[in-house]
Amino acid sequence: MLKTKIIGPFTQLLTMDKILLKGSVNNRQLEIIPNGGVVVSEGKIVRIGDFELLFKEFSGHNAIIEQIDGEMVAMPGMVDPHTHICWAGSRARDYSLRLAGKSYPEIAKSGGGIGDTVAKTRAASALELEAILTKHANTHLKNGVTTIEVKSGYCLNTGGEIKLLEVIGKVNQNLAVDLIPTCLAAHIKPGDFNGSSSEYLECVVNELLPKVMKRGLSKRIDIYIDNGAFTTDEARVYLNEAKKLGFDLVIHGEQFSAGGVSLACELGALSVDHLEVIRSQEIRLLAASNVIPVALPGSSLGLGYQFAPARKLLDADCSLAIGSDWNPGSAPMGDLLMQTAILGIFEKMTMAESLAGVTFRAAAALGLSDRGILKSGHLADIIGFPISDYREILYNQGSLKPSVVWKRGERKEKAMGRKGDGAME
Ligand code: NIG
Ligand code: FE
Repeated sequence: MLKTKIIGPFTQLLTMDKILLKGSVNNRQLEIIPNGGVVVSEGKIVRIGDFELLFKEFSGHNAIIEQIDGEMVAMPGMVDPHTHICWAGSRARDYSLRLAGKSYPEIAKSGGGIGDTVAKTRAASALELEAILTKHANTHLKNGVTTIEVKSGYCLNTGGEIKLLEVIGKVNQNLAVDLIPTCLAAHIKPGDFNGSSSEYLECVVNELLPKVMKRGLSKRIDIYIDNGAFTTDEARVYLNEAKKLGFDLVIHGEQFSAGGVSLACELGALSVDHLEVIRSQEIRLLAASNVIPVALPGSSLGLGYQFAPARKLLDADCSLAIGSDWNPGSAPMGDLLMQTAILGIFEKMTMAESLAGVTFRAAAALGLSDRGILKSGHLADIIGFPISDYREILYNQGSLKPSVVWKRGERKEKAMGRKGDGAME
């Protein structure tokens, strides 16, 4: 049996507890425990509170003390609710064309875009993709992201999509970080599919989704609704079929054109992501629903495009999660904390709102209620910054990284061992 341990003292322990899932948040609502400690057993938080008091209570019970020397602010490990980090090949050419003034849809039509990554990802072996995904996942973990959603969507045929979901499953087993797989076979209709978009989706429903469900490769289905991808009507039929098979639904919506939000609310999706062009009427729909809006500032930065209107969403009493959208095309940067800091300063989000967006609100976008808050019963996913005031985290605009990451209570300072294995490289 694993031993109980007490980690601390932390100069400030930012719990993110007692904040509502929806609406604006004032910094005064942040619960900050000075000289805080966390008691951990079997990967979960048993108790948090004043370090000295916890020490008195638990040290008699053979608890190990994991002493923090020097100043440190701790907060929950970040959750990235939206990535595409299992891909092969570079799209530097696309980026160069964008800098020369070409638009994302124009580049896609001229041989770049998602189709280019699909060709390269289809050609890559499972082993090559495992290595690439491992590198991306470990970079995220080192930077404080302890749970990562990962989409397929770069093979777009039955065998290839299964290959991607298997790779995600295998890397998840091998690494400490948690990877949450999502099937994005409905990213675009692949260039080599002989038939209409509806026929492609029908094929995915009949051939791929039952296999994915049966093998437990993913419980989540995503679709990209936009010009050049799928229409709202095509998506409605597809998502209803996926729902019947038992999948949770998520939508890439309102990036360049409207439609995704109303469908997400109609079908009770877990989240709707992008929202750069969302209008007031859709904001009202979201506020009245349980769908979590996800802003993807990394995509705006990669495309030189407007941000999702985070301030308006929060003021309208919507929730707001933030994802990196890390992918080779629209969002090559992949630094969630930096992107969160940048979105915050442009959208005038409070620090509390920004931090909520990458912790418990992001966990809710994944349907996870066991992380994103430091409290009893939650996973002991904790990140520590070498500072004494939590405001330094966003003030440094992403250039200050955590110096320590605990995944399920195990310290992962440098390298990222296997699940349940505290060893460091
Ligand atoms: O979330 N918008 C659609 N899909 C991705 C981009 C994927 C790519 O460009 O490779 C996104 O931005
Ligand atoms: Fe995306």
